[in-house]
Amino acid sequence: MRRVSIISAGMTKFGEHWEKSFRELIVEAGVRALENANLEGKDIQALFGGCMASGTFIEQEHIGALMADQLGLNPIPSIRVEAACASGGVALRMGYLAVASGAYDIVAVGGVEKMTDIGAEDAAIALGGAGDQEWELFNGATFPALYALMANRHMKEFGTTEEQLAAVAVKNHKHGFLNPYAQFRNEISVEAVMNSGYVATPLKLLDCSPITDGAAAVILCASEKARGFTDLPIEIIASSQASDALALASREKLTEMKATKIAAAEAFKQARIDAKKVNVAEVHDCFTIAEILAIEDLGFFEKGYGGKAVEEGETALNSRVSVNTSGGLKACGHPVGATGVKQACEIFWQLRNEAKERQVKNAEIGLTQNVGGSGATTVVHVFKRGD
Ligand code: COA
Repeated sequence: MRRVSIISAGMTKFGEHWEKSFRELIVEAGVRALENANLEGKDIQALFGGCMASGTFIEQEHIGALMADQLGLNPIPSIRVEAACASGGVALRMGYLAVASGAYDIVAVGGVEKMTDIGAEDAAIALGGAGDQEWELFNGATFPALYALMANRHMKEFGTTEEQLAAVAVKNHKHGFLNPYAQFRNEISVEAVMNSGYVATPLKLLDCSPITDGAAAVILCASEKARGFTDLPIEIIASSQASDALALASREKLTEMKATKIAAAEAFKQARIDAKKVNVAEVHDCFTIAEILAIEDLGFFEKGYGGKAVEEGETALNSRVSVNTSGGLKACGHPVGATGVKQACEIFWQLRNEAKERQVKNAEIGLTQNVGGSGATTVVHVFKRGD
């Protein structure tokens, strides 16, 4: 396998984009990524695009072809990747494998979703398709409800409190306040989270990621050629993915995501490091409990200690491990197909010392963890600042 690096990144602001179409979001993110490395469309040899549910959200399928067409990349192969909310992360992994295998030297990886063109109820149904439609959604279990079951179990087994869940949202809004690409750029307090209405007990409005429009893109290049495009390529030193049962009822435990544990173990083996070496991580906080599960299952903290770790500031900017400096899904927003690629953009900027006010000091190792559904897919990448 060849070594692979990211040489450029670009994204749109995440939020409600009433004034922009789906294709305009793709073009904005894609052109930014190309221009940042002085690349032209003809330099790209293949495109991998993450998108979860465009058919439901905007009645458009065949997203691979749309992306290549709108970005002027024809006739290169362009492949849509779907893995629910992990579509972007899995697209990144497909792009990584395509370059690592030697099939291509330079590929583009994109992610996009436009979720606000339909009503909240229809969006909840579209997102419910990421779980088990027959066993869960059909019986009324929406995504907040599924994660609420995990939160309740974690609270019962480990004494995690609603205030500790709230601390995740408070931290991520604090980070989002510093990120010009974030959907929510307002700080919130634990009291504000506690006083926001219940969506699915114990999860309240401010424990949830929002409905978001947005797109993100990165350009991958064989590491041996990367310095021809940028002085500071960021190497992907591990890429791993694991699967688990689609339905929550079929999982061994509600208090862990086995797919995350397996993908993390494999990623750390590939990267030849352990969790303690990670300086900055973008993890999948679709609900506050998801970030607590992630930081435990990735091995940053012991099982059961995640809530306390967040409450005590161990995951804040420039702490033991800076988690979700972008604002995470909670504050930066969660356009489902784009999120995994946005996570890579954020780590790229952090490791290049380009994250401005939200910069993690001396960040050398970064990690992304992107989850599909309620944990049926997890994809983990580890990144390293070049010498
Ligand atoms: N965090 C903070 N504020 C939020 C928010 C969130 N998650 N969601 C909505 N808001 C704000 C809106 O900006 C709006 O504020 P305004 O009145 O000042 O304009 C207000 O709350 C009401 O927004 P609205 O769009 O009516 O909310 P809603 O009740 O329709 O939807 C949720 C709220 C939580 C149900 C919805 O965001 C949701 O379903 N989130 C989960 C998404 C999901 O499951 N993703 C996949 C996970 S794997």
